[in-house]
Amino acid sequence: MSLDGSTPHALSGETGEHHLGTSGIQHHLVPAHTTLRFQDLYRQQNNATIRLLNESGLLYTYNGRGAIWQLLLSLKNSTRKTVLIPAFHCPSMVFAAIDAGFSPAYYGIDDNLEIDHEDLLAKLDRHVAAVLTVNYFGFPADLECLKSACKDAGIMLIEDCAHSFYYANPLRLAGERGDAAVFSFRKTLPCGTGGGMRINNPSIHIDIPEARRPLSESLQNLKGLGEEVLANSRYEHLKRAYDRIEGIRTSFGKSAYEEPDKSATQGTSEYLSSYRFHKSHGITRIPWSTQQLLNRACLEDISKQRQANYRTASEIIQETSGLKVLFSQLPKHVVPWCFPVLMDSRSNIDHKLRVRGVPLFTHGETLHPSLLELATTEPDMVARARNISERILCFSIHQNLSESEVSAYCATVNSFNVASS
Ligand SMILES: Cc1ncc(COP(=O)(O)O)c(C=O)c1O
Repeated sequence: MSLDGSTPHALSGETGEHHLGTSGIQHHLVPAHTTLRFQDLYRQQNNATIRLLNESGLLYTYNGRGAIWQLLLSLKNSTRKTVLIPAFHCPSMVFAAIDAGFSPAYYGIDDNLEIDHEDLLAKLDRHVAAVLTVNYFGFPADLECLKSACKDAGIMLIEDCAHSFYYANPLRLAGERGDAAVFSFRKTLPCGTGGGMRINNPSIHIDIPEARRPLSESLQNLKGLGEEVLANSRYEHLKRAYDRIEGIRTSFGKSAYEEPDKSATQGTSEYLSSYRFHKSHGITRIPWSTQQLLNRACLEDISKQRQANYRTASEIIQETSGLKVLFSQLPKHVVPWCFPVLMDSRSNIDHKLRVRGVPLFTHGETLHPSLLELATTEPDMVARARNISERILCFSIHQNLSESEVSAYCATVNSFNVASS
């Protein structure tokens, strides 16, 4: 199994990313996530990016879940053993908390993806060691009343900024509000994997991840990145030649991509298994290639393109009785991951949009089983989380897309949406 527990370069568990296959390059779908291009490789180091990364006390980790695990592990001597997690979540957060030795408990998230503060504040008892909040899709959660409540109760407040690690206008690292923050660079940059944490409370002590990942993993990652570059290039003959070589290689020997370790997935769906935590996520350092790509990224251009694409989607996508836009306003500092909506009957519609060329993915489609076990004791909280999980759909607005491409697919969404409502 790969270190990040998923097929290389798939944003694990999130649909719509399968434009790169294990048997070479497939060209037919617009990538739902940003992928690597030639120009990303030969760019100079970017001074503004390096300043942002150096100034803010950022510690690098192998991935976002590794950062959550490290932060919680720093509380391992605490007698408190509960971590509060939003009911609508990425299961990787829960797996990391459990592996660090904590029991997950949940608080409500409403239909607008806002924290149910009443529920959360009522749950801040003496068993709680930490609260994880999520800035869904890059939009900052309201933490105002939480900050003092957590401080007074001696609870670590972790701002999960996995969906977007920086703000624009001016450029700065996100995650300045809690005791610490968590990042996952692959949501914003085409880098395979890579995460980080920002420590705002000096009393938090972390053992910096130092282990190197196995060479086979690094080669696999580089191969994935190379395939992305090739898929984005104009050299059709190179793509065809690569596909031919890959075809021959895979017909002869074992694929470079190992089959997932089935024993580790027992009792969970294959889908959920990609979110599982492995200790290697916590102790392995960020890949060298990710660090290089990060240092060369022009965060200013990326935020401009993402924001312009978001505004285009926001202007064109029409709300109907079956489609609700989640964030109609884009604050000028937010660098969005995607354009999220709630769509009725999503599971019947998403693949139809996908085959019509709309780049999209889902998020939180599978919730951790420990949340679902609360269906009888906290039915409202679980029902609300399931409602979001079943309806959420994320339209891509990443930097490889132009505004005209976004306009074109939004028109497709509208025609489909109006026809089916
Ligand atoms: C809110 C949230 N936190 C943490 C993570 C974990 O990040 P990574 O996949 O880099 O481990 C994710 C992954 O999607 C996420 O959505």
